[in-house]
Amino acid sequence: VERIVLVDPRSVYAASKAAQEHLTAAWARQTGGAVVALRYHNVYGPGMPRDTPYSGVAAIFRSALEAGRAPRVFEDGGQRRDFVHVRDVAAANLAALDATGTGTGWRAYNVASGRPVTIVEVATELARAADGPPPVVTGEFRLGDVRHVVASPTRAETELGFRAAVGLTEGIAEFAHAPLRG
Ligand code: UD1
Repeated sequence: VERIVLVDPRSVYAASKAAQEHLTAAWARQTGGAVVALRYHNVYGPGMPRDTPYSGVAAIFRSALEAGRAPRVFEDGGQRRDFVHVRDVAAANLAALDATGTGTGWRAYNVASGRPVTIVEVATELARAADGPPPVVTGEFRLGDVRHVVASPTRAETELGFRAAVGLTEGIAEFAHAPLRG
C-alpha cells in the first residue's frame, strides 16, 4: 500500500532531522541495509554540557541554579516536553542494536518516557532539589518553538523491548547535584 506522509518541519533544526531520516531511508532502500531511527526526546542527566544555546533546558536551568540564579521559564511555563534520562537513552540504543542485528529496511522509534511534563514543573522540581531559588516565568518565547512535544513510547516497547525506567523525580534529584561538562 502506497502511503503519503506529509512532513512539515517548523524550524531548521526540525528540517535537518527529517532530512536525516529521508537520507537513511533512501540508503536502506538502495542497499538493502538496515536503519533504526531513534527519535530522542528531551534528554537529561549527568554529564550534560553546560549553559549553551544547544544544551537543552535542563542543563540551562541546572547552570543557573549552580550560579545561584533562578531558572528562567519561557512562555507561561505550561508547554510540555517528554524528559528521558540519559541512562534510558543508552539502554534504548542497546535494545535497537540487539533487535536489528540481522534485519533490513527502515524503522523509527520514539525514545521517550511517555510521561510528558510542563517546563515549569521541571524547573520547580529541579530548583527544589538543588535548594535554589524558585523559577521565574518570563513570558519570552523562541520563534518556531512547538508548544507541546510529546510522543508515544509504545512501538519501542513492543518491538525493541525498551521502556524508560528512570522516573523524573528520581532523575531530577540526581541531576540537581550531578556534574555538568564543558
Ligand atoms: C529542541 C532543540 C531546538 C529545536 C527544537 C525543535 C535543543 C537543545 N533544542 O528544542 O534547537 O529548535 O527542538 O522542536 O536541541 N526553555 C525555557 N527556558 C530556557 C530555555 C528553554 O523555558 O532558558 C523552554 C523552551 O521554551 C521549551 C522548553 O524549555 O519550551 C524546552 O527547550 P529545549 O531544551 O531547547 O528543547 P526543545 O524545545 O525540545
